[in-house]
Amino acid sequence: MDGSSRSRRKALSGESLNGPGQPKRRRFVEIFLGAGVAASLASFLYPVLRYVFPPETAEAGSDTVLAGRVGDLKPNTGKIFHFGTRPALLILTPDGQYSAISAVCTHLGCTVQYRSDLRSVWCACHNGMYTTDGRNISGPPPRPLEKYEVFLQGEEIHVRRQGNA
Ligand code: FES
Repeated sequence: MDGSSRSRRKALSGESLNGPGQPKRRRFVEIFLGAGVAASLASFLYPVLRYVFPPETAEAGSDTVLAGRVGDLKPNTGKIFHFGTRPALLILTPDGQYSAISAVCTHLGCTVQYRSDLRSVWCACHNGMYTTDGRNISGPPPRPLEKYEVFLQGEEIHVRRQGNA
């Protein structure tokens, strides 16, 4: 009997399914399924742990940030910057005054923007409107935007939470 007819007979008798390769295959499937279960658990537990133990961000304790440099903005324009983990809006008003406010709409949390054509802060989500100092003037926003204090240090424009000197 030659080698090929022997292996054909093994295949027909099912010997190859129960042969010496079977424990390796079973082990591979066990490891594969175990990794899948571990990945599922990790994907469930990770957000729970991040919620229970929030990460410390570099600016979490900081009440002052660098918002830009003099010359970044032309009058009647605004730009988004990050105050910690949240967006904020720096505006250079048409009369040349800096204003800094939170860019998180007090209605449902969309990011607001400065509209040069309206000379106002506008929320695109539901057409909410604020003044350049954050007062809610029309649309659904129920409260003003948080207002920040702006101060210059040389060419740098810094913004800090009000009440923190
Ligand atoms: S989220 Fe801004 S107006 Fe609704």
